Amino acid sequence: MTMSATMPAGVAAGPWATVSDAVLAGLELEASDARGLPNAAFTDPAFHELERTRLFPRTWTFAAPASCVPERGDVLPLEIAGRPAILVRGGDDAVRAFHNVCPHRGACLVTEALHRKTVLTCPYHAWSYDLEGSLVGRPHYHGPGKHQTRRSNEADPPKLFEIRSATWHDWVFVNLDGKAEPFESFIAPVLREFEGRDLSVFRRSDPAMRFEFESNWKLAVENYCDFYHVFSLHPALDIAMSDDMRRAMWPGGCHMFNGYGFESASSGIALRDSGPGLPTQPGLASGLDDSMVYALVFPNFAVNVYPDSLQAVLFEPVGHDRTVMHVWFYYVGDAATATEFAAARSRLFDDWYSLNAEDEGICRQLQTGRTCDAYDGGRMAPYWDAGTLHYHRQIALSVRHEGRFAASTPTR
Ligand code: FES
Ligand SMILES: [Fe+2]
Repeated sequence: MTMSATMPAGVAAGPWATVSDAVLAGLELEASDARGLPNAAFTDPAFHELERTRLFPRTWTFAAPASCVPERGDVLPLEIAGRPAILVRGGDDAVRAFHNVCPHRGACLVTEALHRKTVLTCPYHAWSYDLEGSLVGRPHYHGPGKHQTRRSNEADPPKLFEIRSATWHDWVFVNLDGKAEPFESFIAPVLREFEGRDLSVFRRSDPAMRFEFESNWKLAVENYCDFYHVFSLHPALDIAMSDDMRRAMWPGGCHMFNGYGFESASSGIALRDSGPGLPTQPGLASGLDDSMVYALVFPNFAVNVYPDSLQAVLFEPVGHDRTVMHVWFYYVGDAATATEFAAARSRLFDDWYSLNAEDEGICRQLQTGRTCDAYDGGRMAPYWDAGTLHYHRQIALSVRHEGRFAASTPTR
């Protein structure tokens, strides 16, 4: 059967079988009886292509930190869901996203980060565009030596293809098809979970971390959100966590959350002696000063807020069985750059690297396990896996484009 853009009613074949009515019914059972997504959701390149064309373009998806284009005239080429794009900080200080393609004959416009630009010039025939995407000039457009040097007065001049975008704190999100719900309503459940925590005090600190997992991106996300395995895979982190009620995963809107309190007042994942402490967000209420929250912003971006640090994490799908995890680190105010906190920052960076290294093997084993025909989507542990099921439902419904599942029962 040829894969069509719309799944025929009542028919489930090819990659569509992965999100069939029967699969959805299994996902909507009580967690004790439910089954997760079938193997093909993690192993089938055709399903990966369905996600690329039907899931990512239709929701809000993370592009990059706005601080990667810190100055007016900065331009950053990047890929968003396998599509070439650019982020541009304009003369008005706004960050915009464009498809990285020239509207003339389709050349890719920008191949490396640029600075202090006022126009973007295509390398092919030198058509140029301002930082808001409007056409500026077309050399030899009317024949040899006959340039169009002023802005065109055509009714519909070519311009760069802008991508709908929104910036929340330091994070630029895009909606490729332009039809997703308003960003404000998309992110509202995340804001609710972060209430009382002041994200505006955090500044980004170099370096960022890049880590590769030999697994489907969803397995990397699920593992990241899975607090159940901490006691077996991360014994040092297990000691740092208290056994309070928030050591769990719970859904909110299309997103997922987890959190925990910690025994020591250090950076929360302190695997080693924490040394001099980092400054914390001012005015944190009791209960927030010794706990943290992870938000998995659907589908593949996470924000972890601790009293003294914040990590923004992107799980970039680079194939059906490969994921690149990017972690950007943030600290309170000057602690992001001050030398006196360099040791504390590098300790935290090392701790994160160690945790990822502890997860690397299990992600590979999850991918391998998903090639076993006997595996039927899994038997869930209701206390821990309700969030995983919620995530699977969101994936399935997004690929089917049937709106979002709202009936999940909070687990905390
Ligand atoms: S393709 Fe860009 S100017 Fe011709
Ligand atoms: Fe882990």
